[in-house]
Amino acid sequence: TDPPGFTEPSIDAADSLWVVVNKKRPLNPIKYKPVLDKSINLAVPAADGYRKLKAAVAKSGNGTLCLNSGYRSFNTQSYTYSNALARYGKKVAEALAAHPGHSEHQTGLAADVSTTALGCKITNFGSSKASAWIAKNAHLYGFIVRYPKGETATTGYQYEPWHLRFVGVEIA
Ligand code: DAL
Ligand code: ZN
Repeated sequence: TDPPGFTEPSIDAADSLWVVVNKKRPLNPIKYKPVLDKSINLAVPAADGYRKLKAAVAKSGNGTLCLNSGYRSFNTQSYTYSNALARYGKKVAEALAAHPGHSEHQTGLAADVSTTALGCKITNFGSSKASAWIAKNAHLYGFIVRYPKGETATTGYQYEPWHLRFVGVEIA
């Protein structure tokens, strides 16, 4: 069974599968920490979904999925954003990394995935067979590709074929 809160349909509640977190909508509380799975660094329902997705990708013959990045704390996200800023400058960093308090990774419901064949790096994941399969089928396991190609004007972020958001099968 899901931890308390996860099934409540609220786009404002940090512990709801419906929560909408983006550049305009910070998490509340801003340092929210989800109940994490014991073996995968994701919130409990997302971890369950991830295990199923991974099994399905393997069964489809498209490789072995791995988690490049899962839950991040406020402080880890601060580091992620500052790092992008230092490396690429403001404009590029804004399209790559969320400001602390504004990342889906802080909900524990976002998973950056890749495959073991790619050394679990996200860089070339978009041209893999696994990525094509995921774009087509991940919704069956409760995940959506959150930042699609050509949607930067809406999402605020570059195309991120690796960034999956767990919302549950019904919403996906
Ligand atoms: N890369 C996504 C937008 C994040 O930092 O949450
Ligand atoms: Zn991500």
